[in-house]
Amino acid sequence: MSIYGEYLPALKEVMERIVGRIESFNEAYQKEHGEPLYEHLNYRIKSEESMLEKLERKHLEATTYNALVTLKDAIGLRIVTTFVDDVFEVVRLIKGLEFVNVVEEKDYISHAKENGYRSYHMIIQVTSHQKDVLGHQPGSFYVEIQIRTIAMDSWAALEHQMSYKKNIKNRELISSELKRVADELASCDLSMQTIRDLINRS
Ligand code: GTP
Ligand code: MG
Repeated sequence: MSIYGEYLPALKEVMERIVGRIESFNEAYQKEHGEPLYEHLNYRIKSEESMLEKLERKHLEATTYNALVTLKDAIGLRIVTTFVDDVFEVVRLIKGLEFVNVVEEKDYISHAKENGYRSYHMIIQVTSHQKDVLGHQPGSFYVEIQIRTIAMDSWAALEHQMSYKKNIKNRELISSELKRVADELASCDLSMQTIRDLINRS
């Protein structure tokens, strides 16, 4: 039996619904502005293995309730934009969806994490006609959304790789170099945004 119990089809449906709406935003934006709102969009249902690993790490019993309600990232989306302003436009559009209720927001762009990580995180609650784990129908399901620029995304990928490496000798040096690169990339993101604004005004 899956950790997601009988809710796997509901999770898939909720994920497809929100992804479909975000893809429609992108198409509408492309038509209006001649350029896409975001560069790419990834989504996944957390694998059984990662969910079990996370429950154990957080000292939570391996129950469907904990997987879907206590933890809120069984469904995950990542939207990667070219420009910083577009991150906030994506956030605005998601907040405007009639079946979405924002339950948590972390703006690691305005306030970068100490290690240099930048991204905008939202946990939303999506209403669905499907029954949820509390027995409600229509039910609601949590979705974690990360929105960031290409530069922020490539940095996060590198830092993620590094965090998995055991027995690194120069960990402190590497961390401070990573932090420096994160700040440089943030500065490049601002310059890119400025260039785009200049192009759009001319
Ligand atoms: P979780 O225990 O993972 O749910 O973290 P949290 O509840 O403190 O939430 P947060 O919004 O800070 O992080 C959620 C997700 O963002 C993580 O699972 C990662 O995918 C990503 N993330 C957060 N911080 C970092 C970071 O410092 N580096 C990288 N590479 N990814 C991060
Ligand atoms: Mg989390």
